[in-house]
Parts: sequence; C-alpha cells; structure tokens
Amino acid sequence: MDKIEIISMTYEHIDDVVIIENESFSVPWSHRGFEDSLNSKYAKFFVAKFDEKIVGYIGLYLAGDAGDITNVAVSSQYRRKGIAGRLIEKVIMYAKENNISVVNLEVRPSNTSAISLYTKYDFKEIGRRRNFYTKPTEDALLMQREIIEQ
Ligand SMILES: CC(C)(COP(=O)(O)OP(=O)(O)OC[C@H]1O[C@@H](n2cnc3c(N)ncnc32)[C@H](O)[C@@H]1OP(=O)(O)O)[C@@H](O)C(=O)NCCC(=O)NCCS
Repeated sequence: MDKIEIISMTYEHIDDVVIIENESFSVPWSHRGFEDSLNSKYAKFFVAKFDEKIVGYIGLYLAGDAGDITNVAVSSQYRRKGIAGRLIEKVIMYAKENNISVVNLEVRPSNTSAISLYTKYDFKEIGRRRNFYTKPTEDALLMQREIIEQ
C-alpha cells in the first residue's frame, strides 16, 4: 500500500470520516464532534488517503506536554494493510516535533486488534479505568507511549 498518503484532516473530509466512525464504534462521534475538534487549537487530526479515497483517520488532543489519541479507525475493507500503523507513526512524529513527552490512549480490553497495534508501536499498559465504556459496558485499559526518553 505505498499509494497511501497521510495528510492533515480538514472539513471536507468529515463526511467520509463519519462513515468510517459509524462502522467502527458503538458510540460514534457525530459530524459536529469532528467539526468542533477541527476548530480546536488543542486538537490535531490526520486522514489516510488511498486513490483519492479517505480510508482511515486518527485524532490527537493536546494538554500541556501530553497527547491523548481520541480515535483511530480504518475502513473495514482496508484493514490489515498497515494503514493504522502509518497513522500512529504520523502522530508519533507530530508529537516529537511539538515537544510532547507522552501519548496516552484508552482501549477496550476486548479489542485485541487495537491492543496489538498499540503494543507494536511501544505503547505500554499503565492503568485501568472501571466501566469507562458503554454499549457494552467495559473497563478501559490506559496505554502510554513515551516520546521523549527520560
Ligand atoms: C484497530 C484498527 C484501527 C487497525 O487498523 P489496521 O489498518 O487494520 O491496522 P494495521 O494493518 O496497520 O496493523 C498494524 C498492527 O496492528 C495489529 N493488528 C491490526 N489488526 C489486527 C487484527 N485483526 N488482529 C490482530 N492484530 C491486528 C497487528 O499487530 C498489526 O501488525 P502486523 O500487521 O505486523 O501484524 C482497525 O482494526 C479498526 O479500525 N478497528 C475498529 C476501530 C477501533 O477499534 N479502533 C481502536 C479504538 S481504541
């Protein structure tokens, strides 16, 4: 998949991103949710483009020198082709360029594919939040990637 391009997300990408969001999550973000994020100076979103089609996206929220990955998803027909990996690499590069020292995220313990993805990119489990998710109710694993070595 070397025709994959990772670019900054803009308003024109929201409709395509919402379609992927809806097929990927039981409590999806709305169009408005993505719009608000693109308006925020504390958020940075990227999309993956393949043959002019938007096939995945990732969102990062910033708080001080920490980043929080809010969502990452790839359109179901395009999974297992390295696209999420490319999106994670882009966020890690963005974090390095912006002096962010850690990137955090939450993931359902049942989401073994996402946990494998994050583990591959050196995220470590650092905690657990009880009943964090709904539909279905489930804890969240908290994972963290150090960006600037101590
Ligand atoms: C999780 C998700 C983003 C992975 O996207 P992807 O583009 O298919 O992932 P990649 O092809 O880049 O895979 C990178 C690594 O992730 C892991 N991985 C991805 N899908 C996997 C699966 N179905 N089973 C096991 N490991 C998987 C593997 O370690 C893989 O590395 P490898 O190919 O060298 O084995 C995708 O399955 C998705 O959109 N799921 C629904 C939304 C979601 O759950 N997002 C995460 C919320 S926390």
